[in-house]
Amino acid sequence: MSRAIYPGSFDPVTYGHLDVIKRSASMFDEVIVGVLSNNAKSPLFSLEERRLMLEEAVKEYSNVSVITFDGLLIDYMKGNDISVIVRGLRAVTDFEYELQIAQSNRKVSKDTIDTVFLTTSIDYAYLSSSIVKEYARYGTDVTDFVPDFVADRLKCKFCQI
Ligand code: PNS
Repeated sequence: MSRAIYPGSFDPVTYGHLDVIKRSASMFDEVIVGVLSNNAKSPLFSLEERRLMLEEAVKEYSNVSVITFDGLLIDYMKGNDISVIVRGLRAVTDFEYELQIAQSNRKVSKDTIDTVFLTTSIDYAYLSSSIVKEYARYGTDVTDFVPDFVADRLKCKFCQI
């Protein structure tokens, strides 16, 4: 059985992420979406909030599950018999960062882990969670970028601030 993990911050999940999830769900028997901490970022939503939004967003896919954990991605993968990481590539600007992570994960895992890149659909090439948060912060409608329930969560978040 082929299993892959799609890790990310997902702060919050966007239609760009959901496009990668949909396509990887048709390539692998099982896809685990891993909501993780990126120590270089200060998230708007807690890990648990992000996990709940993702669960709602992927409920139509029977072979996709969502997990969250604090720690190294490769440690989780070793403990759960997963050897493939899926990541989306939007533009050449993503490439250097993604190459570095993919190569370091491969090195630290002693060549047991591979990363597969899916190029993001042109429709979502410009999209990022940061851009969505920036528009939502100023009250702009973001329902072209994220599911309605995520747009509502963003509205709530920025009302509280
Ligand atoms: O969506 P992002 O922020 O680009 O995702 C980055 C993420 C969360 C996949 C990466 O930071 C990660 O794997 N974090 C878990 C900790 C880890 O394994 N770090 C080593 C690789 S950077």
